[in-house]
Amino acid sequence: MTDYADVRRAYDIVASDYAARLPDTRAEAPLDLAMVDAFATAVLAGVSDPTTATVLDAGCGAGRMSGYLTSRGLSVRGVDLAPGMVEMARRDHPDLEFTVASLDELPCGDSEFAGLMLWYSIIHTPPTGLDRVLAEAVRVLRPGGHLIVGFQSGTGTRDVAPAYRRLGHEVRLERHLYTADEVAGRLATLGADEVARLVRRAKADERDDQAVLLARRS
Ligand SMILES: C[S@@+](CC[C@H](N)C(=O)[O-])C[C@H]1O[C@@H](n2cnc3c(N)ncnc32)[C@H](O)[C@@H]1O
Repeated sequence: MTDYADVRRAYDIVASDYAARLPDTRAEAPLDLAMVDAFATAVLAGVSDPTTATVLDAGCGAGRMSGYLTSRGLSVRGVDLAPGMVEMARRDHPDLEFTVASLDELPCGDSEFAGLMLWYSIIHTPPTGLDRVLAEAVRVLRPGGHLIVGFQSGTGTRDVAPAYRRLGHEVRLERHLYTADEVAGRLATLGADEVARLVRRAKADERDDQAVLLARRS
């Protein structure tokens, strides 16, 4: 099992600042949101009754994407590793249900969700732990359900602690870059086939190119 102690500690420390700086989707490029909207449309199209269009926001942080998905007509539940982030999510989205849990052991039943989002939440999972996280995502998704994954595109590892240190937070935090081919390939092996992908160049305020993958459980 991957050790996420540093990740949990880091997000507990930055939780309040994170929620204040990133309260909504203003950091997302319109192209990113177009993919999220396509995901929402696909999930709704896959259910006969829209009230059953339940999505798990896995690695929900302070819940900003949960709020966005709700505004797109989906019923959303969130899970996150860091209790501090979950506290912010509950404060800012009191109508939604958030639980503290790790992506590699989701407290959810098999085939429970019509959709699942991993929005910049696999980025702290090292390559050795990625299959486990993706397998859990596919497990809780019903056959025909859709999965959306957003992440920085590339290879290697970046130390993101200095950026947080500049904001006054003493943390240890690394993020791992993946290519769309790698994530799509792993998902296909685990039973979720790629539907579409976006790979776009970095915006001025970003260090890396960004990828969004839309996949469907077979
Ligand atoms: C960059 S933030 C993104 C949060 C949110 N998805 C958003 O877009 O605002 C990464 C989040 O993933 C969570 N996370 C990282 N690894 C996790 C894991 N193994 N299990 C659950 N959550 C995890 C962190 O606690 C953090 O809240």
